[in-house]
Amino acid sequence: MIICDETNLLFTLHTKNTTYQMKADSYRVLLHTYYGPRISGGDLSYLIQYTDRGFSPNPGEAGHCRTYSLDTLPQEYSSCGVGDFRLPSLETELADGSHITDLRFIGFARQDGKYALDGLPAFFGGGEWETLILFLEDTAAHLRVELYYGVLEAQDLITRAVRIVNQGNRPIRLYQAASVCLDFQRGDLDLITFDGRHVMERCPHRAPLRPGVQGVGSIRGTSSHQHNPFVVLCEPGTGEDSGLCWGAMLLYSGNFQAQAERSQFEGCRLVMGINPHHFCYTLAPNEGFTAPEAALICSPNGFSQMSRQYHRAIRKHLLRDPLAGQRKPVLINNWEATYFDFDADRLVQIAQAAAPLGIGLFVMDDGWFGSRDSDHSGLGDWSVNQKKLPGGLEALVPRIKALGMSFGLWIEPEMVNEDSQLYREHPDWVLGIPGRAQTRGRSQLVLDFSRAEVRDHIYSALRAVLSSADITYIKWDMNRSLSDVWSAALPTERQGEVYHRYVLGVYDLLNRFHRDFPNLLMEGCSGGGGRFDAGMLYYTPQIWCSDNTDAIDRLHIQYGTSFCYPPCTMGAHVSSVPNEQNGRVTPLETRGVVAMSGAFGYEMDLGKTTQAEREIIQKQVADYHAYYQLIQDGDYYRLSNPFQDPFTAWAHVSQDQRQALVSVVTGSVCAAPSFVTLRLKGLDPSLRYQVNGVSYPGDVLMQAGYPLPMPWGDYQSVQLYLSAQ
Ligand code: DGJ
Repeated sequence: MIICDETNLLFTLHTKNTTYQMKADSYRVLLHTYYGPRISGGDLSYLIQYTDRGFSPNPGEAGHCRTYSLDTLPQEYSSCGVGDFRLPSLETELADGSHITDLRFIGFARQDGKYALDGLPAFFGGGEWETLILFLEDTAAHLRVELYYGVLEAQDLITRAVRIVNQGNRPIRLYQAASVCLDFQRGDLDLITFDGRHVMERCPHRAPLRPGVQGVGSIRGTSSHQHNPFVVLCEPGTGEDSGLCWGAMLLYSGNFQAQAERSQFEGCRLVMGINPHHFCYTLAPNEGFTAPEAALICSPNGFSQMSRQYHRAIRKHLLRDPLAGQRKPVLINNWEATYFDFDADRLVQIAQAAAPLGIGLFVMDDGWFGSRDSDHSGLGDWSVNQKKLPGGLEALVPRIKALGMSFGLWIEPEMVNEDSQLYREHPDWVLGIPGRAQTRGRSQLVLDFSRAEVRDHIYSALRAVLSSADITYIKWDMNRSLSDVWSAALPTERQGEVYHRYVLGVYDLLNRFHRDFPNLLMEGCSGGGGRFDAGMLYYTPQIWCSDNTDAIDRLHIQYGTSFCYPPCTMGAHVSSVPNEQNGRVTPLETRGVVAMSGAFGYEMDLGKTTQAEREIIQKQVADYHAYYQLIQDGDYYRLSNPFQDPFTAWAHVSQDQRQALVSVVTGSVCAAPSFVTLRLKGLDPSLRYQVNGVSYPGDVLMQAGYPLPMPWGDYQSVQLYLSAQ
C-alpha cells in the first residue's frame, strides 16, 4: 500500500511485513526516514537529529544554520558535490565542467500496477502492484531525476529504478547513476556478499561493517563468477529464522557495484547500480537514461523469510517461462560425455541410452557448427557442420524425436573466433582498440553487441538455424570476460557507454528470441554461473548454475545461490565420476538428490552405465516427476549450512504445507559418528505428517526433529517425503 501525504510530503510504502518511508523536508531535500518491520505509520522524521557537526557544510538556503547538513541527513538518493561526503548516487558533469548534483523534490505520481522499463529487465505484474514516482530536479543543471518504486505487498518486495533526463540545451555527462541508495541511521550491521570464482560461485561471506566503504562489484562486462549483484545487510545476530535483514538485488547482467559505507556518525549507506568504472554516458538535450531496476526485501525474521519472498516474487513476476504450468522434461546434455568429439551417430547413441530412462530433452552442446572442432575456431559461423552432422539439423532432429525426445541446442551468440568466416569478413565487429593487440579469452574475441548491425547479423543466422528444425530449447552461453572495450561505431566521447550498450544489446537479442520463438525455453550460461543474475532470469528462466557438476561442491554453490534465486532457476546435472572438475567420487544416488533440487538433467554417456545404475537413474527421473510441483513451486528452506555443518539439508515445502521433500547429504564419514536429529521447518504445526509410514505431528518434527540414519561411506544422501494426513 502506498500512502502519499501531500501536505507533509510524506511517502509511506507498506508491504505485508515491512514499511518504507521518505519525506521531502522544508528545503525539499528528499530524506529517507525508515525501512524496517511494518509499523502503523506516522512521520518517522522525528528520528533525525540536527546538530552542529564540524566540517559538515550547510547548504546556501540554510543561511548560517549549522545544524542542517546533507552530510548528516539520511538521503533517499544522495547528491554529489554539495556537502554530503558519503557515497554519491549520481555524479554528473555539466557543460561548464562542474560536478555538482543538487536534487530537490518537485512532485510525485501514484499509479496502480507496475511500471516497466524500456529495454531493461524488470519485475512485472498487474493488480498486485502499485507504483510511486517521485520527481526530483536540479534546477540550475536542468536535470530531472525520476525515482520509481514498485510495491508488491504480499512478497514484501520494493523495486526501484531511476530515470535521469537532461532538460537543458547542453549535453550532460553521467559518471554514475545508481539504482538504489539506502540510508540507515545505524552502522552496526553485517554485510553479506556472494563470491567465488569459475566453478565455485556464490559462496556467502559475512563481515561486520567497519568504518569506511566496503563492497563488491564487477568490471568484467558481466555480473561475473567472482561477485553477484545481490547483497544483504543484517543485524549482527541475524540467522535463518530470526533477526532483521535487508536484501538488495540488481536486475543487471553487466558491470555492477554494491557498496556499503559505515559513516562517521554510525550511519550506513548502501549504494548499488552500474559500476562507474569506464562509465560515462552523454545525455543530449531532452535525452534520458534509465538505471537498471533494483529489488529490495526486508525480512524481520531472518534470511529464510527473505529468500522465500524473493523466490516467490521471482517465480511469479520475473520469470517468463514458456513451460510455466507444464512439466519441463529432464534433459540430457552431451558436453561432458563428448566435448567437441561427436557426430550424429554418437549423439543419437547417447539419446538412445537416455530415452528409455524417461529423459525427455536431448541438448546438443558446443561443437555442432562451422569449423568448431576445438575451442580455437568456428564461433560466429552459425551454420551446421555438415561433416559432423550430414544433412544438418533437418536430418538429426527427427532421429532424436523418433526416440520420443525433444531437441535443444547450445549457442554462444556474443563471441567470435579469429579462425572463422565471420571474423575474416568483419574484423572490425569485435570489441578492440585499433593499434593494440587484442586480449583473447578462451581463444575468442567479443562481438560488439552495442552495434545493431552485428546483432542483426547474428540474429538472422541463428533464426535460420532455429527455424530449420523443431528446436524447443537453447542454452545461451558466454565464455569470457570483456576486455579491450572500445567500439568502432562510437565517437571518442561515447566510449564510456560501450559496456552498458553491450548489455542492452544482449537484452535486445534475447528479446527478439522471446518475440519470435515464444515457445522456446532458454537457459542462460556463462561458463556456468558467470552471469547468474536477476537481469538474465527475465529472459532465461533457468541458468546453468556452475560448470562444476560435482555434487558436493554443488551443495555449497546451490546453497549460496538460494539466498535470493529460487531452485527452479538453477540448472543442475548428474555427471559421471570421478568428477570432471575435481576428481571426486560420489554415489549416483547423491548426485541425483542434489541435481533434482534444481532444473534437473544429466550430462554423461548413459550408454556407459551398468544395469543397476540405469535402474537408479530411472527412479531418479520418476522421483523428479513425482516431486516436480514441490521443487518448482514449493517454498525452500535451508536446514543446515554446508560451509559449517557436517551435513547439508534442505526442504521444499508445498505452499499449502501439506507436502514436503527433505533432502540430506552427508560429508566425508568418520567412525562412530555423532547422532544427528534434523529439525524440520515450514510445516504446519497442527497437521500430522506421514514419514516412512509413521505419522508425526508437524510441531514435533519441527521442535523435536527427525533422527537421520548413521552414514556408512562418504557423501551419502537421504530423501524424506512428508505428506499431511
Ligand atoms: C561452458 C559451459 O558452461 C559448458 O556447460 C559448455 O557448454 C561449454 N561452455 C561449451 O563450450
